[in-house]
Amino acid sequence: MPSGYEGYLEAIEDDLRRAALPFRSESLSQLSEMIAYHHGWLDDRAARGKRVRPLLTVLSCQACGGDWRKALPAASAVELIHNFSLVHDDIEDHSDTRRGRPTLWTRTGVPQALNTGDALFALARLSLYRLHDQQLPPETVLSIQQNLDQACLALTQGQYLDMAFETRENVQPAEYIEMVEGKTAALLTAATSMGARVALAAPPRVERLADFGRHLGLAFQMQDDILGIWGDSSVTGKPSGDDLLCHKKTLPTLLGLERSAEFRTLWAREYADPSRLPAMRRELESCGALQATQADAARHTDLALSALAEANPAEPAGSLLQTLSRQMLGRQR
Ligand code: IPE
Ligand code: IPE
Ligand code: MG
Ligand code: MG
Repeated sequence: MPSGYEGYLEAIEDDLRRAALPFRSESLSQLSEMIAYHHGWLDDRAARGKRVRPLLTVLSCQACGGDWRKALPAASAVELIHNFSLVHDDIEDHSDTRRGRPTLWTRTGVPQALNTGDALFALARLSLYRLHDQQLPPETVLSIQQNLDQACLALTQGQYLDMAFETRENVQPAEYIEMVEGKTAALLTAATSMGARVALAAPPRVERLADFGRHLGLAFQMQDDILGIWGDSSVTGKPSGDDLLCHKKTLPTLLGLERSAEFRTLWAREYADPSRLPAMRRELESCGALQATQADAARHTDLALSALAEANPAEPAGSLLQTLSRQMLGRQR
């Protein structure tokens, strides 16, 4: 993260820890330990997530003229939902590595990892109740709560589609967008629009910030799709190639299936044959699927930046959001 973000990130980390670890009873110490492990609080900083979503919430609040510290309960709530979804996603995707370490379920078993995810979901909703202490009108707090709940439902719908597509032969690009709008963009949309609502922004400004988050979310997932195939797993902290082996319908893959008979043949072979990965990657490059995915991610980043500009963001948040958006496009982890 470039300079300028440290103060926000420190405050986010403090608030998040408070919201995520409320248990005082000795008998629950292992539950706290599982939560702390997943958030990377037991290891060095590399084991933590990037905290992109809470950063978007506090900066969106400041961009709309609000006091960004008032948005911390919403920022923590968004990050807790994100982490709840990752704990469950790693079970759903059978992933054994995240943030460079074994995933929670591989350490604790599936039942306790599910339970930890459920606790994070409830803690996220409880975090939002703290907005009542921020001198916000009760109807604003309610609208923020509804915002997050709707995003959670959309996320779950997106995860449903993601898994349903694994066994479907033909998935259209429009269906891919519907899936990603749910599994990834919905939470980024909530992150930005909740921040705007805490600032008591007028509805058109909230809408522009929501559009900003939505396009950013689409670009973010496209880059994640690229990293899942071509990323260096020692940098991403996640496996590379698993999406290809388990027939995930990522954007590069959909484009490859559309454009290349050679890729279709490689794809149709046995599941889980890692020796085919180099050939599959090469074919996705030579048929232009990688380049087209990069171009689409760049296009959505441009659309995100236009929506942000239309919101007429206050400084320094406006410039910080711009830099963050460009960084997210070029990210390697
Ligand atoms: C990973 O999100 C899941 C996606 C929606 C692509 P991040 O890349 O933000 O994960 P962390 O929190 O930084 O590890
Ligand atoms: C991203 O799922 C969305 C959620 C976790 C809800 P992915 O399965 O595409 O993300 P990674 O690559 O495991 O982080
Ligand atoms: Mg996954
Ligand atoms: Mg997944």
